[in-house]
Amino acid sequence: MRPGMKLWPQGLLSRAMILLTLGFALVQGVGLYLHTIDRSDLLRLGQAREVAASAMAVYRAVVVSPPDGGRAALLRGMNLPPGTSATLLEAAPAEMLPAPLTLSRLIQADLTLSPVPFHARPRDVVVLGSLADGVVQVGLALPEHGWLAVTVRVPAVEIWRSPLYFAAYLGLCLLALFLAWLLLRRLIAPFTALTSAAETLGRDVNAPPIAEAGPREIGAAAAAFNLMASRLRRFVQDRTFLLTAIGHDLRTPITRLKLRAEFLEDDDMRRKILADLDEMEAMLSATLMFGRDAAASERTATLDLVALIRTVLDEAADAAPECAERLTYAGPERLLLTARPIALKRALANLIANAMKYGDGAAVRLRPPADHLTVIEIEDRGPGIPDDDMERVFQPFQRLEASRNRETGGSGLGLPIARNILRAHGGDVTLTNRPGGGLRVIVSLPV
Ligand SMILES: Nc1ncnc2c1ncn2[C@@H]1O[C@H](COP(=O)(O)OP(=O)(O)OP(=O)(O)O)[C@@H](O)[C@H]1O
Ligand SMILES: [Mg+2]
Repeated sequence: MRPGMKLWPQGLLSRAMILLTLGFALVQGVGLYLHTIDRSDLLRLGQAREVAASAMAVYRAVVVSPPDGGRAALLRGMNLPPGTSATLLEAAPAEMLPAPLTLSRLIQADLTLSPVPFHARPRDVVVLGSLADGVVQVGLALPEHGWLAVTVRVPAVEIWRSPLYFAAYLGLCLLALFLAWLLLRRLIAPFTALTSAAETLGRDVNAPPIAEAGPREIGAAAAAFNLMASRLRRFVQDRTFLLTAIGHDLRTPITRLKLRAEFLEDDDMRRKILADLDEMEAMLSATLMFGRDAAASERTATLDLVALIRTVLDEAADAAPECAERLTYAGPERLLLTARPIALKRALANLIANAMKYGDGAAVRLRPPADHLTVIEIEDRGPGIPDDDMERVFQPFQRLEASRNRETGGSGLGLPIARNILRAHGGDVTLTNRPGGGLRVIVSLPV
């Protein structure tokens, strides 16, 4: 993974939310910016009007008073609003830079519209400064001679700085994100359902179908999934049925062969053939049992796993009393879980039977559950299994050479059946060799 990828979350919801946050922030920013430009134009127009009105008010008062002496006194005594000042000048004011054309046009137009007879020729009016600088000076030529300069300080137009502006920005972004989150969550939920349904189907082909509700595309996906699951189920059922049918039909010819073998003259040959036929019969009945297990859909129930393990051990001890003291249990006294009791018992019995058959004893240890998973370890002191064969023994009818020649021949279905059952419970079974020799079977089961 590249270093930058760590910051990029994996979840669809988080990714979509990050992209939407950036998108919303951008769109809101542009929107508010346009709105601000619009509003500051309006505010500036108002400010220009005010400047023109103030200048005109002072000009009116000055023009009607006597030209010499009185005007300066009048200006001094005048109660001007804060930020506004007025002076008399000999020539047109020129300390500041000329105002932008738009502003001076605006002010000139306003002066022309004012109620006082001021027949301003363009050269009788000078507008200096700018709204952006916060100072505007209007110079007006007096009828006799000299000029009147009215300086007005205007507050800067800073809509950006207003706390309300950012509150609005944040508020809008959060609202949009909240709505997007609600929508996205609803859209993504079916994916999660589909994922867990696929997971369950992998463990249990007979898992119930998922709901085909929701928007059209989601409903179609659910329907397709259910169809796939039912085809898979049919496929598995057909195969199991075929297997059981062959197993069943082979029993008659085997019985016939056995009868015929009885008539063989050669004693040694007869014994060997009958032994082979017995083995074939045992394999067939194991196959039939396997088929029956697959077809039976046992109900789940809450059971005490410890009691189940003890029962299996007791039954194993009854079957082989000479091994009884080498069958031990260690672990908690009680552990409740939900499972299919007969199936789970068969799985454990197969594993414990193996330990007894190949290792002459079984030490069972139950670990207290951690992380919703409980672990059962079944250990023996037998020959163990070569590392290369660890997976092979889980395939049906696979037996290792060492055990193949034993008298206690099995059919090689014990481990595959156990794994099948445990995986259907959401658990699993794995094998490792013990350091001092012998096999350790590790069974995990969800609680
Ligand atoms: N505890 C064990 N120690 C050594 N080898 C084992 C052990 N358990 C299983 N095996 C090997 O794995 C093979 C497959 O085991 P599995 O239980 O599937 O069949 P099986 O015991 O031969 O026959 P079945 O259980 O159907 O009667 C066995 O034949 C044996 O060689
Ligand atoms: Mg076995």
